[in-house]
Amino acid sequence: MKPVIVALDIDNEEQLHKILSKLGKPENVFIKVGMELFYHAGNQVVKDLAEQGYKIFLDLKLHDIPNTVYNGAKQLAKLGITFTTVHALGGSQMIKSAKDGLIAGTPAGKCVPKLLAVTELTSISDEVLAHEQNCALSMKEQVLSLAKMAKHSGADGVICSPLEVKELHEKVGDDFLYVTPGIRPAGNAKDDQSRVATPAQAKEWGSSAIVVGRPITLASDPEAAYEAIKKEFN
Ligand code: C5P
Repeated sequence: MKPVIVALDIDNEEQLHKILSKLGKPENVFIKVGMELFYHAGNQVVKDLAEQGYKIFLDLKLHDIPNTVYNGAKQLAKLGITFTTVHALGGSQMIKSAKDGLIAGTPAGKCVPKLLAVTELTSISDEVLAHEQNCALSMKEQVLSLAKMAKHSGADGVICSPLEVKELHEKVGDDFLYVTPGIRPAGNAKDDQSRVATPAQAKEWGSSAIVVGRPITLASDPEAAYEAIKKEFN
């Protein structure tokens, strides 16, 4: 079954336990923990959740010199997480170091966390790409180039829009993970997302996993919404 990852965009344990209590058995739940909760509650909260059986995507988007990222990733690999992220813009050596750090830090007998690269943030406009990052490529060319570089550097996949997945499968390969936020089941508000797809479209276009926040966390029955999205995506 391909993962549906619930984005927990929260910054305190009270909200965390409230939402988790509405999502069903830990072993059936895959969550994304971001900077806000990690920086507030520290790594103990991640260890505790992993011990309870939750699968965890720890989204900290590492970006530093290779040696620092190696050492940071080595620590993250001890927490029992399944996915984590780096910025592809940190370069090929940094991505390789992140992967090496994850391998070095994973306890014996445990799975090495999958390393996902963020290409260009979806908040970066064509204007910023051209005039602040001084990039001569179009956004599409830049995302493709970074995805290929990330793959050759040892990343296991990229975070991308579901609308980009089909082309990335063709040009970067099927042996790479395409993890896609920007998911809205039919009838849900788009909120602040602009380019959205339904779980069924994400499935059709080849997303390896989807990240869904508000359509689940703000639903009147989060567990039912989660189960319906899992069904539609699989
Ligand atoms: O609530 P919603 O489904 O829009 O949440 C999507 C999640 O995916 C959020 O945690 C958001 O930060 C994250 N994300 C995104 N677009 C990206 C990368 C991450 O929406 N390009």
